[in-house]
Amino acid sequence: MRRLLPAPIVDLSDDDLRAAYMFPEQRPWVRANMVSTLDGAMRGTDGGSRSISTPADQRVFSIARADADVILVGAGTIRAEDYRPSKKTVAIISNRLDLPLTLRMLAERTDENPRPLAFTTDAAAADASEALRALIDVVPCGSHVVDLHRVVAELAARGLGRIHCEGGPSLLGDLAAEGLLNELLLTVAPRLLGGGPQEHILSVAGGFTPPLRLTPTQVLEEDGSVFIRARAT
Ligand SMILES: NC(=O)c1ccc[n+]([C@@H]2O[C@H](COP(=O)([O-])OP(=O)(O)OC[C@H]3O[C@@H](n4cnc5c(N)ncnc54)[C@H](OP(=O)(O)O)[C@@H]3O)[C@@H](O)[C@H]2O)c1
Repeated sequence: MRRLLPAPIVDLSDDDLRAAYMFPEQRPWVRANMVSTLDGAMRGTDGGSRSISTPADQRVFSIARADADVILVGAGTIRAEDYRPSKKTVAIISNRLDLPLTLRMLAERTDENPRPLAFTTDAAAADASEALRALIDVVPCGSHVVDLHRVVAELAARGLGRIHCEGGPSLLGDLAAEGLLNELLLTVAPRLLGGGPQEHILSVAGGFTPPLRLTPTQVLEEDGSVFIRARAT
């Protein structure tokens, strides 16, 4: 692992990396961690991001997670990637509260894993089954769609102000559109996927005009994977 920015260039130990991925003091702080190929693809042939990730990306993924209070993730990503139970609190965003009980996050959870949270609409929360409520804390947070400002405020009020979002593209797009995204941790994996039009790491209806501007504060590299840490300005 080499630090390219800021200088000097050094070999980074795991402790150095932990320091490189600490959250700043401000609370709440929302950052997203995403991986893309060189040609901008956000998922590979497995239908998820694992097949475009690299060992170095996995190292940063777990080290960056470690300093967070909560992992924030869209229901589409939970369904597509079938997350395992986590030792961190996981907060899932879902308008429809479509969370099958067979998801590993729910079905394989033990006492070592904090109860996940599901932020959803008031109506979907009212309709949530007892079986689902037994496995996850359902938090109503919006009349027709989930209000992400309320989600962030609610997480901060629960002492979960270091918010580490792992996508997917729709949730990241909505966070950015609402002005809630403070920072992006982007891995550019040294791969070209080709194929049809690429689906990117961020998806938002209409896009951003003018484009949102982020300021890189750190660039690392290992085995051709480039790790950009950039702040919303
Ligand atoms: N390259 C990467 O770093 C990366 C990271 C994460 C995911 N991915 C890939 O991205 C793909 C999934 O993309 P996606 O855009 O569908 O992911 P997503 O944002 O995780 O999921 C979309 C779903 O999440 C819920 N959701 C998202 N934003 C919401 C909001 N603001 N309010 C309420 N609900 C919201 C909705 O769930 P309901 O339908 O339940 O209402 C929506 O249908 C998968 O293939 C996954 O592997 C890639």
